[in-house]
Amino acid sequence: MGRVFVAGSINMDVVATATRHPRVGETVAGNAVHYFPGGKGANQAVAAAKLGASTTLIGRLGTDAFGRQLRTFLAAQGVDLALVKDTAGTHSGTAIITIANADNTIVVVPGANALVSADDVAAPVLAKGDVAVSQFEIPLPTIAAFFKRARAAQATTILNPAPAMACSPELLDLVDILILNETELGLLAQTELHDTDEPARFVETARRLPTASDKIICVTLGKRGVLALVGGEPSLIAGRAVKAVDTTGAGDCFVGALAAQLANGNAIRDALGYANAAASICVQRMGAAPSMPTAAEVAALRG
Ligand code: RIB
Repeated sequence: MGRVFVAGSINMDVVATATRHPRVGETVAGNAVHYFPGGKGANQAVAAAKLGASTTLIGRLGTDAFGRQLRTFLAAQGVDLALVKDTAGTHSGTAIITIANADNTIVVVPGANALVSADDVAAPVLAKGDVAVSQFEIPLPTIAAFFKRARAAQATTILNPAPAMACSPELLDLVDILILNETELGLLAQTELHDTDEPARFVETARRLPTASDKIICVTLGKRGVLALVGGEPSLIAGRAVKAVDTTGAGDCFVGALAAQLANGNAIRDALGYANAAASICVQRMGAAPSMPTAAEVAALRG
């Protein structure tokens, strides 16, 4: 059995719910405020751990009340936090989220996440069969250092280039599996995409990415499911019809679930269906990290 190592962000999500999103310059009355553990790295690590993989998170927290709450929560989910450093002089990562009609807007203030360094990711001893996962809420040179080590150890690398930002072809070259939504795909391919575009358009765009054709590319399409290119061949894993209440963290659930499945030795096509099912459970609950399903819940759904 392989292990999952996630180098990534840890945030406290400060969530306001409202009947609709305010327009720029407008104030609307909210319904409730919540404090949910989140951050793309933490969410993905929680998903992987709850779905049965031995999971280590590499990251940083501030020495503040949010940092202490986040550490307690993540430990209770079974995530190994030996490589999460408490860092004085900054605050824990914080995301300000508005949710209306199950859709969100997010502003992330990185705090300690911006200090996750190449030295931090040098600590774990990776091995063949392990899965190394990262996203774009920690510095890109840190991700490159992490994936170089993973490659040297013959571990599988998964990049979720979110939030969308440009990156070098050298970084993409270190990636075995790229998991991204249409905004991130559009930015990396330097083209404009919409979530209503036909799957064929995403396939054509994914094929134009500056990556080798042997990479696996998964384009998450929200309620439409996931479009995967495996060996250059596209397949659509249809979304499950569910009533979404909060889509925050659904992409992270997909990433963490896929990583856990691959670490447990499952084939990519089975892993894709499993991760798709896991994400459909996540969207039916409020919050990011707290909404990650257990292996028993996913098994019950798949029958
Ligand atoms: O992907 C969802 C996450 O993005 C939230 O938990 C928030 O912290 C931001 O990082």
